[in-house]
Amino acid sequence: MDALDGLRTRLVIEGGRRLEGVVDVPGAKNAALPIMAAAILAEGEVVLHNVPRITDVDVMAALLESLGARVREQAGGTLLIDTSAVASHPAPYALVSKLNASFDVAGPLLARFGRAEVPQPGGCVLGPRAIDMHLRGFELLGATVALEHGSIVASAPRLTGTTVTLAKPSVGATKNIMLAATRARGTTTIENAAQEPEVADLAGFINAMGGRVAGAGSPTIVVEGVTRLHGCEYTIIPDRLVAGTYLLGAAITAGDVTVRGIDPSMLDALTEKLAECGCRVAAEGVALRVVGIPEWRPADVVTAPYPGFPTDLQPPYVTYMSLAKGTALVEETIFDARFVYVSELARMGADVKVSGRSAVVQGVERLQDAVVEAPDIRAGGALVLAALAAEGTSEVGGLEYIDRGYEFFEERLASLGASIARTSVVSPVTPRIDIGLTAQLPKVVTPYRSA
Ligand code: UD1
Repeated sequence: MDALDGLRTRLVIEGGRRLEGVVDVPGAKNAALPIMAAAILAEGEVVLHNVPRITDVDVMAALLESLGARVREQAGGTLLIDTSAVASHPAPYALVSKLNASFDVAGPLLARFGRAEVPQPGGCVLGPRAIDMHLRGFELLGATVALEHGSIVASAPRLTGTTVTLAKPSVGATKNIMLAATRARGTTTIENAAQEPEVADLAGFINAMGGRVAGAGSPTIVVEGVTRLHGCEYTIIPDRLVAGTYLLGAAITAGDVTVRGIDPSMLDALTEKLAECGCRVAAEGVALRVVGIPEWRPADVVTAPYPGFPTDLQPPYVTYMSLAKGTALVEETIFDARFVYVSELARMGADVKVSGRSAVVQGVERLQDAVVEAPDIRAGGALVLAALAAEGTSEVGGLEYIDRGYEFFEERLASLGASIARTSVVSPVTPRIDIGLTAQLPKVVTPYRSA
């Protein structure tokens, strides 16, 4: 075993403090990644504001650079992406395999060059990440799609508008088909489209480049093909999933947190549940405040496509329920393996029984400190919340996941009163998951650690 195997960076968290105060919400990861991919369509310079400083953005930037783009970072979360010199090179496996959202480049490459060659995404910790609906959409638009040596090769001299009805409202398929259709001949209608705010934000960006997309955010999206798109300046919407994590942090520490800069209606599915549990919820303009109470009621949840309860907030919500006065049933309908983190939560004393896609969460009196390992981004957020509410000092590892989705996480939590620090610790625990994400990648965007 390598001598450094046990040396891991972790978040060391002393539990038992109320979170209190106001926190600004960073830009949305799930909007920023497809919007960066969509910049391929611009054939010019795109200026993006409110880009979150997270490692997933680094990977997408590196991927765009590998295709010939020039990506520069300016202070304060602004990215300049010049895609004039992009060519339809094969997307490199080393980058695509790090980020499922990499497949978002397929639609823009196909639209601009009539050809996209992108390694087929494999599974991920949440289960298989199928792309059949993306590919069916490309085919209906007139592309030939083949699997060649592990890569999806889609090609068509020019796509032609059509109607694509999705079997289920996949976020990824909606975005990719919308992107492919931007330069198709005629009109494309996407039925049963995903209604997530990030889909609507992508449509806003396409329109800012001179595209013509209507209806995004509703189940029917209509895309009028145009012959050319141009550079533009655009500001990415705030991250409702990050905001939701902070609000659950207020709830689980019986604290009082206001998230600022977000349309509160984006979080209705969460705040309705928090109110049911006994929290006080107040929305005013672009501020959303949650005041927690010391003893809260359980409330059942079923995850669903937007505007339903977001699957990404299921892990932090289960964590909250693990300290409720009673039992909650939580059903996961989006991803097969989204309960993998439960075994780590159990090590802190939570009582969660998983059967297939359902979990019965029996509230316990207290969570206790432990060394735990985050298996994915949102489970990382959940384990941090568990540590904030637990007795004693916990260590949360798996920062390569947490850093993929949470900008300035410990700084923001500390500003709310948390006792949290990033520390290298020697531990006898052999990490179960270590993909060494950032170490292997060229850095085109300074990772978000503050000076
Ligand atoms: C996006 C989000 C992710 C969020 C998810 C659901 C990004 C970068 N990620 O993921 O945070 O949890 O939406 O809100 O935006 N499916 C198929 N065939 C397809 C496409 C999807 O069967 O062609 C399945 C998937 O395996 C999954 C489900 O549909 O089980 C949802 O997938 P999708 O909505 O596409 O999620 P992503 O875009 O991958």
